[in-house]
Amino acid sequence: MKTDQSWRKDPEYVAIVEDLLAKPEVKALANYTQHHHSNRLQHSIAVSYDSYRVAKKLNLDYESTARAGILHDLFYYDWRTTKFDLGTHAFIHPRVALRNAEKLTDLNDKEQDIILKHMFGSTLAVPKYWESLIVSLVDDYEAEHEFFRPMRKKLRHQKRNLQRRYQASRRQTRHQMRGERVNGTVINNHQ
Ligand SMILES: [Fe+2]
Ligand SMILES: [Fe+2]
Repeated sequence: MKTDQSWRKDPEYVAIVEDLLAKPEVKALANYTQHHHSNRLQHSIAVSYDSYRVAKKLNLDYESTARAGILHDLFYYDWRTTKFDLGTHAFIHPRVALRNAEKLTDLNDKEQDIILKHMFGSTLAVPKYWESLIVSLVDDYEAEHEFFRPMRKKLRHQKRNLQRRYQASRRQTRHQMRGERVNGTVINNHQ
Protein backbone atom coordinates (compact mmCIF):
# COMPACT_ATOMS: atom_id res chain seq x y z
CA MET A 1 0.00 0.00 0.00
CA LYS A 2 1.16 3.51 -0.71
CA THR A 3 1.93 5.72 2.27
CA ASP A 4 4.17 8.68 3.06
CA GLN A 5 3.55 11.59 0.71
CA SER A 6 1.62 9.88 -2.09
CA TRP A 7 -1.68 11.22 -0.70
CA ARG A 8 -0.60 14.76 -1.63
CA LYS A 9 -0.86 13.85 -5.31
CA ASP A 10 -4.49 12.75 -4.97
CA PRO A 11 -6.57 15.96 -5.30
CA GLU A 12 -9.86 14.25 -4.46
CA TYR A 13 -8.45 12.87 -1.21
CA VAL A 14 -6.84 16.20 -0.31
CA ALA A 15 -10.16 18.03 -0.88
CA ILE A 16 -11.89 15.65 1.55
CA VAL A 17 -9.44 16.05 4.44
CA GLU A 18 -7.72 19.42 3.95
CA ASP A 19 -9.95 21.32 6.41
CA LEU A 20 -9.08 18.75 9.09
CA LEU A 21 -5.35 18.81 8.31
CA ALA A 22 -5.36 22.61 8.63
CA LYS A 23 -6.62 22.48 12.24
CA PRO A 24 -3.99 23.05 14.95
CA GLU A 25 -5.49 20.18 16.99
CA VAL A 26 -4.73 17.79 14.12
CA LYS A 27 -1.32 19.31 13.36
CA ALA A 28 -0.42 18.83 17.04
CA LEU A 29 -0.48 15.05 16.47
CA ALA A 30 2.94 15.47 14.85
CA ASN A 31 4.35 16.05 18.36
CA TYR A 32 3.58 12.51 19.49
CA THR A 33 5.46 9.34 18.63
CA GLN A 34 3.08 6.63 17.52
CA HIS A 35 4.94 3.46 16.57
CA HIS A 36 8.63 4.13 17.34
CA HIS A 37 9.39 5.34 13.83
CA SER A 38 6.35 7.45 12.96
CA ASN A 39 4.54 10.34 14.59
CA ARG A 40 0.80 10.23 15.20
CA LEU A 41 0.00 12.62 12.37
CA GLN A 42 1.92 10.55 9.79
CA HIS A 43 0.22 7.44 11.15
CA SER A 44 -3.27 9.02 10.99
CA ILE A 45 -2.76 10.20 7.41
CA ALA A 46 -1.43 6.78 6.36
CA VAL A 47 -4.43 5.01 7.94
CA SER A 48 -6.83 7.55 6.44
CA TYR A 49 -5.39 7.44 2.91
CA ASP A 50 -4.98 3.68 2.67
CA SER A 51 -8.48 3.11 4.12
CA TYR A 52 -9.90 5.71 1.69
CA ARG A 53 -8.38 3.84 -1.26
CA VAL A 54 -9.75 0.49 -0.10
CA ALA A 55 -13.21 1.97 0.55
CA LYS A 56 -13.21 3.62 -2.86
CA LYS A 57 -12.32 0.36 -4.61
CA LEU A 58 -15.16 -1.38 -2.78
CA ASN A 59 -17.67 1.39 -3.62
CA LEU A 60 -18.11 2.27 0.03
CA ASP A 61 -18.34 5.65 1.75
CA TYR A 62 -14.74 6.74 1.16
CA GLU A 63 -15.33 10.30 2.35
CA SER A 64 -16.39 9.26 5.85
CA THR A 65 -13.58 6.69 5.84
CA ALA A 66 -10.95 9.30 4.95
CA ARG A 67 -12.17 11.87 7.50
CA ALA A 68 -12.60 9.45 10.37
CA GLY A 69 -9.20 7.95 9.54
CA ILE A 70 -7.57 11.33 10.16
CA LEU A 71 -9.37 11.61 13.51
CA HIS A 72 -9.19 8.02 14.76
CA ASP A 73 -6.20 8.63 17.07
CA LEU A 74 -6.95 12.22 18.10
CA PHE A 75 -5.53 12.03 21.61
CA TYR A 76 -2.61 13.82 23.23
CA TYR A 77 -0.64 11.58 25.52
CA ASP A 78 2.11 9.00 25.16
CA TRP A 79 0.22 5.71 25.10
CA ARG A 80 3.32 3.77 26.13
CA THR A 81 3.76 5.59 29.44
CA THR A 82 0.28 6.85 30.38
CA LYS A 83 -1.86 4.41 32.34
CA PHE A 84 -5.55 4.71 33.18
CA ASP A 85 -7.59 3.47 36.13
CA LEU A 86 -10.71 3.05 34.00
CA GLY A 87 -9.34 0.59 31.44
CA THR A 88 -6.61 -0.17 28.93
CA HIS A 89 -5.32 2.30 26.36
CA ALA A 90 -7.01 0.19 23.65
CA PHE A 91 -10.36 0.72 25.40
CA ILE A 92 -9.91 4.36 26.42
CA HIS A 93 -8.29 6.14 23.48
CA PRO A 94 -11.04 5.61 20.86
CA ARG A 95 -13.45 7.30 23.31
CA VAL A 96 -11.03 10.16 23.94
CA ALA A 97 -10.44 10.55 20.19
CA LEU A 98 -14.19 10.63 19.52
CA ARG A 99 -14.74 13.30 22.17
CA ASN A 100 -11.89 15.41 20.76
CA ALA A 101 -13.07 14.91 17.17
CA GLU A 102 -16.61 16.03 18.02
CA LYS A 103 -15.17 19.35 19.17
CA LEU A 104 -13.50 19.87 15.77
CA THR A 105 -16.16 18.93 13.25
CA ASP A 106 -19.62 17.43 12.79
CA LEU A 107 -19.42 13.65 12.62
CA ASN A 108 -21.98 11.40 10.99
CA ASP A 109 -22.93 8.06 12.54
CA LYS A 110 -20.45 6.17 10.36
CA GLU A 111 -17.54 8.45 11.26
CA GLN A 112 -18.36 8.06 14.95
CA ASP A 113 -18.43 4.28 14.59
CA ILE A 114 -15.14 4.23 12.67
CA ILE A 115 -13.35 6.17 15.43
CA LEU A 116 -14.98 4.27 18.28
CA LYS A 117 -14.48 0.76 16.85
CA HIS A 118 -11.04 1.10 15.29
CA MET A 119 -9.52 -1.13 17.99
CA PHE A 120 -11.77 -4.05 17.02
CA GLY A 121 -9.84 -7.20 17.81
CA SER A 122 -8.20 -5.67 20.88
CA THR A 123 -11.60 -4.65 22.24
CA LEU A 124 -15.01 -6.30 21.93
CA ALA A 125 -16.70 -3.32 20.26
CA VAL A 126 -17.92 -4.80 16.95
CA PRO A 127 -17.95 -2.43 13.94
CA LYS A 128 -21.39 -1.49 12.61
CA TYR A 129 -20.10 -0.63 9.13
CA TRP A 130 -17.68 -2.11 6.58
CA GLU A 131 -15.84 1.22 6.66
CA SER A 132 -15.14 0.75 10.39
CA LEU A 133 -13.75 -2.71 9.74
CA ILE A 134 -11.50 -1.38 6.96
CA VAL A 135 -10.01 1.35 9.18
CA SER A 136 -9.46 -1.15 11.98
CA LEU A 137 -7.63 -3.57 9.62
CA VAL A 138 -5.58 -0.83 7.95
CA ASP A 139 -4.68 0.55 11.39
CA ASP A 140 -3.21 -2.86 12.34
CA TYR A 141 -1.37 -3.08 9.04
CA GLU A 142 0.11 0.42 9.41
CA ALA A 143 1.22 -0.24 12.99
CA GLU A 144 3.20 -3.28 11.87
CA HIS A 145 4.50 -1.51 8.76
CA GLU A 146 5.64 1.60 10.68
CA PHE A 147 7.32 -0.51 13.35
CA PHE A 148 9.33 -2.65 10.92
CA ARG A 149 10.02 -0.07 8.18
CA PRO A 150 13.53 0.97 9.41
CA MET A 151 14.46 -2.68 9.88
CA ARG A 152 13.43 -3.47 6.30
CA LYS A 153 15.40 -0.44 5.08
CA LYS A 154 18.47 -1.62 6.97
CA LEU A 155 18.14 -5.14 5.59
CA ARG A 156 17.77 -3.82 2.03
CA HIS A 157 20.88 -1.67 2.59
CA GLN A 158 22.87 -4.62 3.92
CA LYS A 159 21.72 -6.80 1.02
CA ARG A 160 22.86 -4.16 -1.49
CA ASN A 161 26.24 -3.89 0.29
CA LEU A 162 26.69 -7.66 0.21
CA GLN A 163 25.81 -7.77 -3.50
CA ARG A 164 28.34 -4.99 -4.22
CA ARG A 165 31.06 -6.76 -2.23
CA TYR A 166 30.29 -10.05 -3.93
CA GLN A 167 30.43 -8.45 -7.39
CA ALA A 168 33.68 -6.62 -6.48
CA SER A 169 35.28 -9.86 -5.28
CA ARG A 170 34.22 -11.66 -8.48
CA ARG A 171 35.70 -8.84 -10.57
CA GLN A 172 38.91 -9.05 -8.56
CA THR A 173 39.10 -12.83 -8.99
CA ARG A 174 38.55 -12.52 -12.76
CA HIS A 175 41.19 -9.82 -12.89
CA GLN A 176 43.67 -11.93 -10.94
CA MET A 177 43.03 -14.95 -13.17
CA ARG A 178 43.56 -12.83 -16.29
CA GLY A 179 46.70 -11.38 -14.69
CA GLU A 180 48.03 -14.85 -13.94
CA ARG A 181 47.37 -15.92 -17.53
CA VAL A 182 49.16 -12.80 -18.80
CA ASN A 183 52.03 -13.38 -16.40
CA GLY A 184 52.11 -16.98 -17.47
CA THR A 185 52.43 -15.90 -21.10
CA VAL A 186 55.15 -13.39 -20.23
CA ILE A 187 57.07 -16.05 -18.31
CA ASN A 188 56.65 -18.45 -21.22
CA ASN A 189 57.97 -15.79 -23.63
CA HIS A 190 61.10 -15.38 -21.56
CA GLN A 191 61.75 -19.10 -21.56
FE1 LIG B 1 -5.79 3.90 17.87
FE1 LIG C 1 -4.17 4.17 14.86
